[in-house]
Amino acid sequence: MDKRMVSEVRVWLEEAAQFIRESLDHTMTVVEKSGRTDLVTNIDEETQEFLMNKIRSHYPEDKILGEEKGYNTIDSLEGRVWIIDPIDGTMNFVMEQENFCIMLGIFENGIGQLGFIYDVMKNELYWGGKKLGVYLNETRLTQPAFGKLSEGLLGLNAHMYGENTHFARVLGNKSMGVRISGCAGLEMIAMLKGNHNGYLSNLSPWDYAAGIVLLEEFGFKYSNLKGTPLSFDGREYFLAGSPETYEEILHYVLVNGA
Ligand code: IPD
Ligand code: CA
Ligand code: CA
Ligand code: CA
Repeated sequence: MDKRMVSEVRVWLEEAAQFIRESLDHTMTVVEKSGRTDLVTNIDEETQEFLMNKIRSHYPEDKILGEEKGYNTIDSLEGRVWIIDPIDGTMNFVMEQENFCIMLGIFENGIGQLGFIYDVMKNELYWGGKKLGVYLNETRLTQPAFGKLSEGLLGLNAHMYGENTHFARVLGNKSMGVRISGCAGLEMIAMLKGNHNGYLSNLSPWDYAAGIVLLEEFGFKYSNLKGTPLSFDGREYFLAGSPETYEEILHYVLVNGA
């Protein structure tokens, strides 16, 4: 992979993270998107704008898919596509001023090349890519030990847990315990570190793009809840986990029906 691209993106992300941290000292504009619990701030939008401008000036031929401001659909994954979630965990950003990430995934003809997940308040950048390994800042991480569903923690989407959607609560009860962070990026990080065995949620492409590049590098499995590839087109159910945990959850959902 292009080392220069990695260095460039890391500099952009440092700058974006600094901008977000500084924004916490000022009043921000918070707007409801689809409803009371679906928020966007001017900082989400400005961070996406900042990253898009960097990509456009350095890689003018490339395509960009981003959560905010009408960039949330794309014709096809042909060529090089940058997938941006400027603030993942906007509710946490607004209510907690921590536990949110910047996420960026780079794909070529639909194949993940590089992934970046930046835990902004901890100053921790998880990054890596195809045949590159996975890093936390400068340190190369080792692949975590894999376990069964019953042997580890399971990250869940709050709504799915509450409604027992696709047996989320039943599956959670089979694990060592359920964790709900409200931030897909943090759930991906928890798996990469070996803290969680799996994650079941309902996500859009920018919520999973960066994460799946890193998960794949470590041998985790992921797909939608039918067991078929993710569409990169709108929201869908998302399952990732150690091979054993992934297979166990998928099997349970497919055998027991929706
Ligand atoms: C959300 C978070 C949350 C997940 C939602 C996402 P956003 O992203 O990742 O954990 O449950 O599905 O939409 O909107 O804060 O970027
Ligand atoms: Ca959002
Ligand atoms: Ca998100
Ligand atoms: Ca977001």
